[in-house]
Amino acid sequence: MTPALPFSYPGIDGDVRRLGALLAVGLSSAGWRPPAVPAVLNLACGRADETGVLLAAVAPLARELFYLGIDLRPPEIAEGRARWTPLAPPGWQLEFRAGDASRTDRMKQLPAFDFVFVRHQNYWHDPATWLVMFRNALDALNPGGLLAITSYFDHEHELAMACLIECGARKLADIHHPHSRPLPDAPKKSVDRRMALFGK
Ligand SMILES: C[S@@+](CC[C@H](N)C(=O)[O-])C[C@H]1O[C@@H](n2cnc3c(N)ncnc32)[C@H](O)[C@@H]1O
Repeated sequence: MTPALPFSYPGIDGDVRRLGALLAVGLSSAGWRPPAVPAVLNLACGRADETGVLLAAVAPLARELFYLGIDLRPPEIAEGRARWTPLAPPGWQLEFRAGDASRTDRMKQLPAFDFVFVRHQNYWHDPATWLVMFRNALDALNPGGLLAITSYFDHEHELAMACLIECGARKLADIHHPHSRPLPDAPKKSVDRRMALFGK
């Protein structure tokens, strides 16, 4: 899907294209077979820039799907909605919600999900909240479903993976991004530097 609005920052185009390739590798190594009508949850999604490549990887042939992106920040959610909802073909329900992604257990009328994605997880900023978010996400995962995280720092990735395993998740793959773009604002930080996939 080509976004309805250009991305807000230089470099994002390439980052999301490379993320799409990384997702394809991860999904194939996890033996992913999408259901006929997939439900996809993008937690703490910010602007959800990756919506197009995520849906192309997870649900390449779906005529119907449900996709929900949730983030605390209303402006980012509004931007994601404006960028992606105009592109939804008939049968695709794309929803962007401003709210607390650690409270999905209390949100009414959510389906169980086949794929839960957390890009650039932020575990070390608030481990207690992320623990609840991960636990609820695993509870909401359908049998055979997958949960994937990407991280911008190795140490944060290790911490988040340990938390997910503590919550009962089963690690299926942990991939070092071969073409991750280095970021200048912190040492050893790069875009989608690691991606891990879990089942339950
Ligand atoms: C590092 S940013 C990543 C954003 C986006 N996934 C991306 O890759 O551009 C972390 C995001 O987590 C969101 N966040 C943190 N705690 C949250 C919560 N409890 N509920 C929803 N979003 C949350 C922040 O608002 C922020 O957008």
